Amino acid sequence: MARLPDAFIDELLARSDIVEVVGSRVPLKRKGKEYEARCPFHDERSPSFYVSPTKQFYHCFGCGAHGTAISFLMNYDRLEFLDAVDELAKRAGMEVPRDPNPRSAQQADDSRDLYAAVEAANRFFIKQLEGSDKARTYLDGRGVDASVRAQFQIGYAPDGYSALKDALGKDERRMKLLERAGLFSRNERGHVYDKFRDRVMFPIFDRRGRVIAFGGRVMAKDDGPKYLNSPETPLFHKGRELYGLWQVRQANQKIERLVVVEGYMDVLSLFQYGVPQAVATLGTATTPDHAELLFRNAPDVYFCFDGDAAGRKAAWKALESVIPRMKDGRQAFFLFLPDGEDPDTIVRKEGADAFNARLAQATPLSQFFFDQLSSDINLATLDGRARLAERAKPLLAQIPDGAFGDLMRQQLGQLTGVGGTSSANANFVPAPPRTPARPPAQGDGAQKRSLVRAAVALLLQQPALAQALDGHHFAGLRQPGVELLIEMLGIIDARPDISTGALIAHFEGRQEQQWLNTLATQTLPGDVDSWRQELQDAVAQLEKQLLLQRLEELQAKARGQGLDDTDKYELRELLKVRATLR
Ligand code: UTP
Ligand code: MN
Repeated sequence: MARLPDAFIDELLARSDIVEVVGSRVPLKRKGKEYEARCPFHDERSPSFYVSPTKQFYHCFGCGAHGTAISFLMNYDRLEFLDAVDELAKRAGMEVPRDPNPRSAQQADDSRDLYAAVEAANRFFIKQLEGSDKARTYLDGRGVDASVRAQFQIGYAPDGYSALKDALGKDERRMKLLERAGLFSRNERGHVYDKFRDRVMFPIFDRRGRVIAFGGRVMAKDDGPKYLNSPETPLFHKGRELYGLWQVRQANQKIERLVVVEGYMDVLSLFQYGVPQAVATLGTATTPDHAELLFRNAPDVYFCFDGDAAGRKAAWKALESVIPRMKDGRQAFFLFLPDGEDPDTIVRKEGADAFNARLAQATPLSQFFFDQLSSDINLATLDGRARLAERAKPLLAQIPDGAFGDLMRQQLGQLTGVGGTSSANANFVPAPPRTPARPPAQGDGAQKRSLVRAAVALLLQQPALAQALDGHHFAGLRQPGVELLIEMLGIIDARPDISTGALIAHFEGRQEQQWLNTLATQTLPGDVDSWRQELQDAVAQLEKQLLLQRLEELQAKARGQGLDDTDKYELRELLKVRATLR
């Protein structure tokens, strides 16, 4: 992604008025020096959303949403960073500088051409559908109506090994682009041929409505894998895309909910039968990136799976991905379908009303969570309750601060008599170390949090500082931001010369990006040498905290169910290491 100079962003924000930007979308009421409103990012009756003209900043005391005019547009209008910048620049009468770095200007051209090549392939497939009786008969047979075919731009890749190649590959450069976009395969002898052959084609759109990849379905059994998807390409990362999201956005003014299903046909049929809020993961489990994308688009997310063991497993995977994103105001539900049904078959049989009724009966995340964790546990026994507590805690610790996390811990307390808000059973198994509710008070928790924050800020100041680190061994430390920090260090490990802008671009479209942007615009006091030292110190502290966390766990276990030999060995080793740290 192109990086805009900080000075330009500063100037752009200085010339924009956040009150005007927010005020044109949300009714604001003056209150003292600030303006207030009912928060547009979560449901509330009384206003807790404030816009400050002096700070040029918004903040919601209810859900924690905050940021600048740029982040407001990103979140409210659901724009990508550069589009939000464009929008503001237009209002402010400023010109967005083109990237001065010729190599990345070249890259921008390349990726524009790549999009164009994929779009050309898409038009070719659409055209071919008109000429293929077989493919149209197949779609007729599956009851896909004309408006859905058009809306989802369904096409057909002809049989043979060179239909696309013959039609579009004459120009050498375009040939290369199509290959990079995953539309060709290559045999051992280097011969290039069409990847998709004799398949119904489902183009996959990105958030801006550009085609970036395809899924292709066979029409007869035994014609190879049922669905073939584009490989990972510079445009397409399947763990980050949701099939149908573009169409959902087109079809809904405001997206109240999203329904996550498994297949292309499920999305199509739900649209056709009047549930135009369905998206599908693309032959993968729900990733954390998916979870973030889902909640950025809708407050309520329904995961719809088969009722069998595989479906439950997939649902649990989804739960693990959404748990760290469960800020207040967000809700996740799980719907399990009867044996042998998928959303496609069921909505055709029962219609939208019945499907909506099923959604209304879906299992809330909290219930699925505790049901699943205790499915093989006897809660009538002390042992069983301890086991449930032990299983639940690492997951509960990932829930962001807020009422939802509190309620989940309370629920655990009710089920086990452990780890809830009451301290009556505190010495049975101690409650998990709670991070303080916002705003962080001073004291231990706040200190821990600011360590992670300091490390992140230092890396954003100069990613290359990470080279001074002799490894970083604090994965598993339960503190806000730890995962993000480790992810950043991983990116820098792989690309030691990465720029701050490119580093942040890795978080494009994710919640953290706002925060990173904010931190990145700060200038830290001190010089490179002192930053390097601070980073080394922060990492050493985090490593020590992980050690202490593990010690605490083992000691808790010693008080509860007792330690086995491996535990005892680990405990002794940890105590030795701790002694050297003092
Ligand atoms: P299903 O096998 O459940 O197919 O795969 P489906 O969606 O019901 O498809 P129809 O109704 O038979 O046409 C669910 C999803 O898993 C991925 C696809 O994204 C598919 O939509 N998949 C499945 C693959 O990627 N490859 C396969 O071979 C099969
Ligand atoms: Mn199906």
